[in-house]
Amino acid sequence: RGSSKPGRLAFTPIAPVDAAVDSLDVPGGYGWEPLLRWGDPLFADSPEFDFDAQSAAAQARQFGYNNDYLEILRQPNGKKGLLVCNHEYVNPQIMFPAAPATAAEEAQRRGIFRNAVGLSVVELERSSRGTPWSYVRGARLNRRITLDTVFELTGPASGSDLLKTAADPQGRYVLGTLGNCAGGSTPWGTVLSGEENFNGFFRAGGTSPEDRRYGLGSDPTAMGWEREDPRFDARTGQTRNEPNRFGYIVELDPEDPESVPRKHTSLGRFKHEGANVIIARNGKAVAYSGDDERFDYLYKFVSKNKYRKNNKRHNMTLLTEGDLYVARFTGSSPAAEIDGSGSVPADGGFDGRGTWLPLVEHGTSAVAGMSVEEVLVYTRLAADKAGATKMDRCEDVEPNPATGRVYVACTNNSNRGTGTNAPVDEVNPRRENRDGHIVEITEDRSDATATTFSWNLLMLCGDPAQGDPTYFSGYPQEKVSPISCPDNLAFDTAGNLWISTDGAPSGIGYNDGLFKVALEGRERGKVEQFLSVPRDGETCGPVIHDEESMVFVAVQHPGEDGSYGAHTSYFPDYVPDGAVPAAGTVRAPRPSVVQVFRQETKPGNGNGNSGN
Ligand code: FEO
Ligand code: CA
Ligand code: CA
Ligand code: CA
Repeated sequence: RGSSKPGRLAFTPIAPVDAAVDSLDVPGGYGWEPLLRWGDPLFADSPEFDFDAQSAAAQARQFGYNNDYLEILRQPNGKKGLLVCNHEYVNPQIMFPAAPATAAEEAQRRGIFRNAVGLSVVELERSSRGTPWSYVRGARLNRRITLDTVFELTGPASGSDLLKTAADPQGRYVLGTLGNCAGGSTPWGTVLSGEENFNGFFRAGGTSPEDRRYGLGSDPTAMGWEREDPRFDARTGQTRNEPNRFGYIVELDPEDPESVPRKHTSLGRFKHEGANVIIARNGKAVAYSGDDERFDYLYKFVSKNKYRKNNKRHNMTLLTEGDLYVARFTGSSPAAEIDGSGSVPADGGFDGRGTWLPLVEHGTSAVAGMSVEEVLVYTRLAADKAGATKMDRCEDVEPNPATGRVYVACTNNSNRGTGTNAPVDEVNPRRENRDGHIVEITEDRSDATATTFSWNLLMLCGDPAQGDPTYFSGYPQEKVSPISCPDNLAFDTAGNLWISTDGAPSGIGYNDGLFKVALEGRERGKVEQFLSVPRDGETCGPVIHDEESMVFVAVQHPGEDGSYGAHTSYFPDYVPDGAVPAAGTVRAPRPSVVQVFRQETKPGNGNGNSGN
């Protein structure tokens, strides 16, 4: 274990790409193609994408915007696949040729934006394993989930007064999902999706401790959806609880196009980046989830009931009932050695012990003065009371299937150790943490249900060549690819960690990318860059099919710093200036899912775009 065997996604790392460059780069011997782009028609009756003549009705039948979490499920013969993707949010200023001219046009665009978020499920096909996929327009399982899709609330808070609105007096059914960022696939074949920055979509009272803790404000929202749909104006009694119905982990069965997706209140309500499940030795399902906000927390859920192999119907109930915990970390080194500079403590590592503090245990609240329903709806306030450790923005949290160790991407925290904010500690050891770090957790007795653990930092990210204080578990820093702002995580079949990044341009000055990191043996901590995304883009949803030498990424918000007609990216269609775009292409950036594959290196035998 520790490095790829030849033929299994072997590659020579690419050089980092300057942040002004608008290309997608892959290693030599590999090519890439977009698999699905914003606006691609998913159904037989879907209109073709027309950048100049968009409509809400068309967008509801097309691939959505800002693809983030990505999963590609394969049938055993390798010829049919199923793609599931999150559409987190929109970038209005680059989605149209010009600014809206009238109020009516503004309102029409709001309808398009509403249908551009949510989820997509799309069938894939190909001739043989290891070759690029095509998506199948009009396939039986294709599905768009939008703000009009009905979701069922499960768990102890379902039916709670805190979740009732005039439109849903039972507090059991919600229309739509919001801010779907990262996610995870369950061992039983469903997909989880995290509702992250839902707060910004609501105009709320904005003064209660709960509203303030969740960033719910009273100003009109940037999206302005409250103008057409009063449920986004949560200032009145009719809709006051509507924001309480977002901020959950969503579970979707992509193999049943009629299934009602669910929001699991048992996993708590916060800015869920995503959630990832592992089955503990005793058969319980354990889900790890981070709250991506500066100084927020890391959580773990342990199911009451046990996983049953080949019983999807039963397994789909596992996340409805169980215990919820939040993490407290303690360091092994004297506080004086953690000076905020990032220098390694005298004992040779950033490490220590930790406790999973109960919030809900055995169906009862473990937090004084809060009911179970309150803990699950106002989870951040419960975790505050429990005394959890304030983290540097936990993004993906993912157990390694090969070892059970859990990896936490702390993306950055520019406020760490400043003013009255939380000081540095051994698990968040850098002041004004610009480049982020990765925490590695080993549950006691290697039991995923344990309430205590040990931890250490796998790496402090940055660019050693620019003098950043970095740490790569002792691996020589001059031999690693520079890396900043870790966000999404994945593992290959050899147990290597893959990290995609979001925010590198403003830190180390390079485009975001995808990186492989060895975790075991002499190469532990060796970071190698596999891919780089176009200008202003974020690398999301990595899927690593190393046994086929294939990699998939969702390129989110390419060209986001551009404006109407003045683009900073033309990915992925790259229509040249002055050229007439071919049908279905556009001279503007489009968030897209990209597939990377082995390419014959013979000249002229290119299928797709060459690596360099
Ligand atoms: Fe949507 Fe935490 O990234
Ligand atoms: Ca230490
Ligand atoms: Ca993210
Ligand atoms: Ca991020």
